[in-house]
Amino acid sequence: MTGTHEVKVPLGDRSYVTRIGKGVRHDLPRFVAETGARKAVVVTARPRAWTPDPGVPHLVVDAHDGEPDKGFAALESLCRHFARFGLNRGDVVVSCGGGTTTDVVGLAAALYHRGVPVIHLPTTLLAQVDASVGGKTGVNLPEGKNLVGTYWQPSAILCDTEYLETLPEREWINGYGEIARCHFIGRPDLQSLPIHKQIAASVELKASIVAQDERDSGMRHVLNYGHTLGHALEIATDFELRHGEAVAIGTVFAGRLAGVLGRLDEAGVAEHLDVVASYGLPTKIPGNADPDRLVSLMRADKKRGSSTESDGGFAFVLSGPSGAELVTGIPGHKVREALAGMPRG
Ligand code: GLY
Repeated sequence: MTGTHEVKVPLGDRSYVTRIGKGVRHDLPRFVAETGARKAVVVTARPRAWTPDPGVPHLVVDAHDGEPDKGFAALESLCRHFARFGLNRGDVVVSCGGGTTTDVVGLAAALYHRGVPVIHLPTTLLAQVDASVGGKTGVNLPEGKNLVGTYWQPSAILCDTEYLETLPEREWINGYGEIARCHFIGRPDLQSLPIHKQIAASVELKASIVAQDERDSGMRHVLNYGHTLGHALEIATDFELRHGEAVAIGTVFAGRLAGVLGRLDEAGVAEHLDVVASYGLPTKIPGNADPDRLVSLMRADKKRGSSTESDGGFAFVLSGPSGAELVTGIPGHKVREALAGMPRG
């Protein structure tokens, strides 16, 4: 098939393939057959006409994309569907939807019978370039996003670019936020490529990082480029800014902070703004976002490695002479200085 790519995520005996291209959802029966499953549960947030037949006896369960449906209730409901259908350890679960669906279905597959194979069919750009790849699964608690989860690598991922044809503009922007950050962590200049190539390049980059640090204990942190301010902006705007939009502004900020710290020259700082803007992504901090609140939200973003100023400063993934890396011990006044220099509006 023209324009179809296969990217391997090399993880020893848990290696798998991500297939990217137009119509690749129809390859599902082949990938299901490779697992040896006799039956399947297909969990779908898309209309039935867009949900492919897995080629073995199956149950289709409807799901909803979105953070409110990514909790313990959804997890329990899925596992009970699996049990009532008599799904066994050698069978397979298929997820079809955005990143919240692939996350919760991945976790249900990881837990049910202590682990059944799962195949993801991510249907949003964000899920295709980031969320479905790399084995992170999870659900939210009222206390925070993704607080309960595990690593459970899929058996295969099918990124069908036909799903993207019906995406609203803002969903495209959401995905571009994660593609733009690739420019600064190892895959520059993707903007002019056709979308299937941008997806393949983003997945290739992520696969190579995950292969070296599956459990996020070091190098995988670079995938969080732009995310520290990004997460703070999502919370400060009550999630009015979508994840990819917030990460885009966070990426501009990462350039500015690297400049303040002398890690980048003026051209390097400007490149951040230019690349983010070239995707049509937002670059400015919303005018009503209070800088003190953003600083305290970044201080609390422990998951990304940030720490309190009193115990040694902030941590950010930043560009520098040897590429992007986690930089610790950044004084609060430098963070505030970079924030003050950000475009607002
Ligand atoms: N989305 C970041 C990661 O998978 O590590």
